[in-house]
This record gives sequence, C-alpha cells and structure tokens, in this order.
Amino acid sequence: MGELLTLQQPQATPSAHDELLFIVVHQAYELWFKLILHELSAGVEETISGAPARARHLLERVHAIERVLIEQVAVLESMSPQDFLEFRTSLAPASGFQSVQFREIEFVSGLKERGYLERLELDSEDRARLEQRLTGPTLWDGFCSLLGGRGLPMPDDDERTRRESLLRVARERQEFSDEFYLSEALLTHDELFAIWRQRHVLMVERQIGTKSGTGGTTGAAYLRSTLDKRFYPELWELRSYL
Ligand code: HEM
Repeated sequence: MGELLTLQQPQATPSAHDELLFIVVHQAYELWFKLILHELSAGVEETISGAPARARHLLERVHAIERVLIEQVAVLESMSPQDFLEFRTSLAPASGFQSVQFREIEFVSGLKERGYLERLELDSEDRARLEQRLTGPTLWDGFCSLLGGRGLPMPDDDERTRRESLLRVARERQEFSDEFYLSEALLTHDELFAIWRQRHVLMVERQIGTKSGTGGTTGAAYLRSTLDKRFYPELWELRSYL
C-alpha cells in the first residue's frame, strides 16, 4: 500500500493545488478499469463454457462499478476551469484517450476498432495486450455461442436468423430465462458505458469548451462523435421488433 501511495506525483511548476485531484481521480479510474477487465474476461469464459447465470452475476458487479465511475465524474468536476489551466499544459500528450485499459474494455465487450492501435502511443507490452483483445473472443461472441448451444443459431452472415433467435429469447423468456436475463445484463453494461461517455463529454465541455484535447483530437467534437457507439446494437434494435 505504501508503494501505491508514492505514485501520485504532480508535475506542474509552479505547483497547482488541483493537480493532485486530477491524478488521484485518473488513477482511481484505472484501478476500477482493471477490475472491470477481470470480471469481463471471466464473463467471456463463463458464456463460452455455457454458464449464463454466472456470467450475469459477474456483469452485475461490472454495473455497480460503472455506476461508481459515472458518479466519480462529479469529484473532478468540482475543479474550476481556471484552476485546471494552471497545470493543463504539463499534461500533454497524456490524455484519457491513451488509456489502454479503456480500449481493452471496449474490445472485450464487442466494440473492436483496430484503428486505435495506430492512434495510440503504445509500448510493446500494451500493444500485445490490445492485439490479444482484438483477436480474442468478446462477450458478444460468448453470448452467441451460448445461444447456439440452446438451439438458437447466431450465424455471422445472416442477420435475419440472428434476429429470429434473439426474438425467441425475448418472447419465450420462461424457456430461455437465463439467456434473457443475461441479454438484459449485457444491455445494461452497454447503457451504463454510453451514460459515462455522455457524462464525460459534458465535463469536458465545462472544463475546456471547444479547445482541442491534450491527446491530439478535436476535443469535445471528437467525443461527441463517439456518443452513439454501442456494444450490442442488435439488442437495441430488437426492441423495435417486439
Ligand atoms: C478535466 C477533466 C478531463 C478533461 C478536460 C478531459 C478531456 C478529454 C478530451 C479532450 C478527450 C479527447 C481526446 C484528446 O485528449 O484529444 C478525452 C478522451 C478521453 N478521456 Fe478525458 N478528460 C478529462 C477527464 C477524464 C477522466 C477522469 C477520465 C477517466 C479515465 C477520462 C477518460 C477519457 C477517455 C477514456 C477518453 C477516450 C474516449 C474515447 O476515445 O472514446 N477523462 N478526454
């Protein structure tokens, strides 16, 4: 624990009171990301081995953490933009954009974008971790294989058949109750992540308006372009067919 507490080293000269707040909040996020990845990785294994109730149990823990992550934005938002400016320049090129664990969560959840590997400054270890997540199974893959095992085919190349299978899960919830409640848990994970994105962009606009980001993007404009990202678009679309 002593070692952990040596890792918060403000960089700005002259020193800025709120830099410690900024560092602690970011590090707390990374610790929670670590636990989320632990749970999601186990969730993938549980779905692949055909254990939907256990996968749902793990996802419910992820939901609880995600609610903390959304609430935690308020701690950083207690900073005034003028106070942020006292140390903002010493941050570049660091940015949440460079968070490898954040991309790992996106990838393992089902949203894989190889393009980020080129856009991030990665050492060989981080690159290997992201490559592994890109090629490895996602929660959605696990869910689909679970449905296949229950006689509900989810072929990659046949959207209509997939929708029929998903509709059966939703309409025959007594028969497929574990699968149905797991699909709802996946949707909650997706929804909470989307809420975090919205909460984050509002905080960013409050802190830096339309300035570009320290990670090299257009800032809030880039972040707004990510708000419609979804891990499980087919579970959202399904609502229109019920
Ligand atoms: C004063 C507070 C913050 C500001 C002004 C801010 C600003 C930004 C900006 C402008 C971006 C776009 C990328 C770039 O830098 O060019 C970004 C991305 C990001 N930030 Fe923050 N951020 C703040 C706090 C946080 C915190 C506490 C986290 C927690 C981990 C975080 C996580 C992220 C992530 C994961 C991205 C990438 C999002 C994506 O690409 O979809 N940020 N942030």
